[in-house]
Amino acid sequence: MSDEMFASDAVAGSVLKRVAHYPGVGSSPESFCPIGQAASGVGRAVAVRGLTKSYGDVPVLKGIDLTANQGDVISIIGASGSGKSTALRCINLLETPDAGEIEICGEVVRMRSGSHGRNGPADRHQIERIRRTAGMVFQSFNLWSHFTVLQNVIEAPIHVLQKPRKEAIDHALHLLEKVGLSDKLNHYPSRLSGGQQQRAAIARTLAMQPKVMLFDEPTSALDPELVGEVLRVIRGLVEEGRTMLLVTHEMRFAREVSDKVVFLHQGRVEEEGAPDQLFNQPVSDQTRKFLRQQF
Ligand SMILES: Nc1ncnc2c1ncn2[C@@H]1O[C@H](COP(=O)(O)OP(=O)(O)OP(=O)(O)O)[C@@H](O)[C@H]1O
Ligand SMILES: [Mg+2]
Repeated sequence: MSDEMFASDAVAGSVLKRVAHYPGVGSSPESFCPIGQAASGVGRAVAVRGLTKSYGDVPVLKGIDLTANQGDVISIIGASGSGKSTALRCINLLETPDAGEIEICGEVVRMRSGSHGRNGPADRHQIERIRRTAGMVFQSFNLWSHFTVLQNVIEAPIHVLQKPRKEAIDHALHLLEKVGLSDKLNHYPSRLSGGQQQRAAIARTLAMQPKVMLFDEPTSALDPELVGEVLRVIRGLVEEGRTMLLVTHEMRFAREVSDKVVFLHQGRVEEEGAPDQLFNQPVSDQTRKFLRQQF
C-alpha cells in the first residue's frame, strides 16, 4: 500500500486498524478543532514554522512559515517546482520534513533527531493521527479501483474509526449526496468520469471527518469541462466553514474563495496576503511576474 493510499484513509490493513485504539481517533471534528466558525479569534488549525526539505542535495523547501486559523481557506499558488506539493505532503507527513515545526489542531508533531542533523517524526501513531486530522485530496484521485464508490467511502470509517457498518453507510450516503453521486453508489471508479472520481475521493476524505482538508491541485487532472463540478463541491465545503489548504492553478477560484493566498517561489513564501491585495497589488516582482503568466 503506498503512503498516498495510506494517507487517503486506506484501509483494511492491520496497521491502520491499530490506530483506531489511539486517543483522538474517531472523535468528531467539532470536538477538537471546530468547523463552521469565523476565522477570527477561534484559534489555529495549522501552524508551520521554518519547514525545510531537501531531496538529496537539492533544497526544495527553504524555511516555510504558514498559518491557518480555524475556518480559513488558504490557497497556495506558485510555479511548477516551487514546492507546493512538497509543502502539503510535509504537512500531513507523507514526506518527512528535514527541520521545522508542524502543528495541526493544537498537536505539535514530535520530531526526533536523525543523521546529518536532520529530524523526522518520532511517533508512527501520531503520524497516522495527523494524516486523518488533515485529510488530503490528490490530483490523481487515488480511489481503490476494486471497490465501488460506496465501498471506497465506508471502508476506512469501518476499519480505522471502527464505526458500525450501518452508521458508516448512512454517513457515506449523506456525503455522496452532497457531492452529487447518489446515483453512482455501486459503480467502480473505472466507470466514472474524472470529475466524478474526484468527487468520490472528496467524499471519501470527508468520511474520515478531517479537521483540515488539504487539496493538491484537485482539478488539474480533469478535462476542462469537468473542472466546474469539482470546484462547486469544494465551494460548498468552503461555505460550510471548513478549514482548508488548497494548492491550485485555478487563480479565479482561489481569488473568490480564499481568506489568504500564499505565493511560493523556489521553496520560500515570497508573498502572502488577502486575495484582493495579492492579486491586485502584489508587492514582489516575482509575484507580479507569476500572475502575469496566469491571467
Ligand atoms: N520525491 C522527490 N524526489 C526528488 N525530487 C523531488 C521529489 N518530489 C519533488 N521533487 C522536486 O522538488 C521540487 C518541488 O516539487 P513539488 O512537487 O513540490 O513542486 P510543485 O510546486 O508542486 O510543482 P507542480 O505545480 O508542478 O505540481 C521539484 O524540483 C521536484 O522535482
Ligand atoms: Mg504539485
